[in-house]
Amino acid sequence: MSQKRAFITGITGQDGSYLAELLLSKDYEVHGLVRRVALEDPENRLSRLASIRSQLHFHSGSLESYASIHHVLGRIQPDECYHLAAQSFVTYSFDDEFTTLQANINGTHYLLSALKSIAPNCLFYFAGSSEMFGQADEVPQNERTRFHPRSTYGISKVAGFELTRNYREAYGLRACNGILFNHESPRRGFEFVTRKITSGVARILAGKSDEVRLGNLEARRDWGHAREYVAAMWLMLQQPEPDDYVIATGETHSVADVVEVAFDAAGLDWRKYVVCDRDLHRPSEVNVLSGDASKARRELGWEPRIHFRELILEMLAHDCQAQGVTLATGAWTDSKQ
Ligand code: NAP
Ligand code: GDD
Repeated sequence: MSQKRAFITGITGQDGSYLAELLLSKDYEVHGLVRRVALEDPENRLSRLASIRSQLHFHSGSLESYASIHHVLGRIQPDECYHLAAQSFVTYSFDDEFTTLQANINGTHYLLSALKSIAPNCLFYFAGSSEMFGQADEVPQNERTRFHPRSTYGISKVAGFELTRNYREAYGLRACNGILFNHESPRRGFEFVTRKITSGVARILAGKSDEVRLGNLEARRDWGHAREYVAAMWLMLQQPEPDDYVIATGETHSVADVVEVAFDAAGLDWRKYVVCDRDLHRPSEVNVLSGDASKARRELGWEPRIHFRELILEMLAHDCQAQGVTLATGAWTDSKQ
């Protein structure tokens, strides 16, 4: 059988980097869409891909440009397309609603439309989000739970979800929606709360900072490990029929729990360092997210193995190592970060 060709948008991000590694390990030819600035500044912008860079094929383009997406897809003719690129930071979507909606909705639409004319048999994955549930009517949330997004980010993901479903139903595209709950790792962006906390603790231990400034400590999320979640993306596309799946651990924890695990592991009293800042609260918050991934367990055979505490300790250990400090408690470390 000839080598399969995969195309990943958002390959430079947390999920894109883990997915690229997974697909290379399965002998795929892996292509990624990157913004031009990434090719100009590879040391920084491609840092998550450092160890596999030479095995990847990069194509410059952006979600804003239909022409670039059409051109790249025409050149690659992929068998599988994983659409991960997005303005993914919910907080920022309150500051710049227009960019979030334009890039996220149009980018998804451009890809689907280009695939329809260029590679209609290509399998397509859309990175949907638990933020689509927002203020959900039920806990836990599953594939049938009504969407009630609370940010333009969430709205953009609902639109992407519906576009994906419509291209499947109207044009027969083999398009799947993943509805992924929060997933983190040592490659998480520093602006997201788990990484903000673990990197903040590491900086305190290194003597470079004396506080971590946070917003709503009561918000609860269902946090899993990104490496396991990208495996679910691949599994979705290997099914005989395209469908939509929730991917989650089913366990929820508060932001305060993240604080407690990370500061405790560092032997620090969080009350001395955490500053609660009203300015960091969101205008409309999603209070609780908890996913029911039983369909994925049943149909994909997917199950999360890494749990909350282990995840936070892995991130903390990584951030401490980066700051040149060691954890007295000997928090768990992973050589495959
Ligand atoms: P991430 O680390 O923020 O990565 C986002 C990626 O999108 C980066 O590669 C970024 O490129 C790219 N991108 C952003 N705007 C772009 C544009 N205009 N043109 C081309 N590329 C653009 O996000 P992630 O955590 O890996 O998440 C991957 C996807 O899953 C996102 O769509 C996110 O919304 C969704 N999702 C994430 C989670 C989660 O908990 N992580 C949960 C549910 C859904 P640059 O490097 O150039 O900025
Ligand atoms: N970022 C951030 N910074 N969040 C804070 C802070 C802070 O200082 N203090 C409290 N929080 C709370 C937020 O209000 C939110 O309730 C929770 O921590 C998680 O925030 P983030 O880590 O920024 O993630 P998110 O849940 O908003 O969004 C992530 O998960 C979604 C899936 O549910 C992103 O990865 C999205 O792209 C993804 O779709």
